[in-house]
Amino acid sequence: MFFVFEGIDGSGKTTQADRLEDMLVRRFGSRNVVRTREPGGWDGGDAARKFILDGGLSSLWGEFFFFMLDRCEHVERVIRPALSAGKIVLSDRYTPSTLAYQVFSNPAIDENAALYASRLADVIGLPVPDVIFFLDIDAGAASSRLASRGETDSFDGRGHGYFERVKAGYEKIMASSGDKWVKIDASRDPELVFGDIADEASRLMALRD
Ligand code: TMP
Repeated sequence: MFFVFEGIDGSGKTTQADRLEDMLVRRFGSRNVVRTREPGGWDGGDAARKFILDGGLSSLWGEFFFFMLDRCEHVERVIRPALSAGKIVLSDRYTPSTLAYQVFSNPAIDENAALYASRLADVIGLPVPDVIFFLDIDAGAASSRLASRGETDSFDGRGHGYFERVKAGYEKIMASSGDKWVKIDASRDPELVFGDIADEASRLMALRD
């Protein structure tokens, strides 16, 4: 079973992934649950994460392929072996992040290029998540959360307009490949947000048994 968490920066996905991880570990044991993230969720990936989040690249397609490269390593070393061993994988971000942040947020990318980029994950044969939780929050509320946390990277500094385009990008991706997506209103109390996630995860795990 492969769970993915998506959303704009400040949407609360890491907190929710922590909670789901706790729930699944309690139910299935820590040996059967693999919690990971992108970018950098593989051995040696911390340097890749630091490089890209410190603003190490300036070309649009360079950034796109860097995140894809990071994902290929992540899949090969972490995700695929865990899924093959029958484990539950929870990833904080996956392919939709690259499509939303690098492709659909960018007015300079035309429809053909966006279509090409969207198909690449299938062409490469990346594993398909069983469910993608999209933590839906408006860009203004997300920025306030980030500001109160005080952590920033070069992506956080891209401004309100950028995050609005990323959110619109997610909406486009969901509209064209909606069946795996579960959209959750993330502006609510984290307990309520987790209630929805836990219900959906339990439903899917029961179907699997
Ligand atoms: P995080 O704060 O959720 O850990 O993600 C780090 C940043 O990396 C976040 O601003 C989103 C960005 N990112 C992309 O732009 N494209 C991607 O493919 C991924 C995985 C992350």
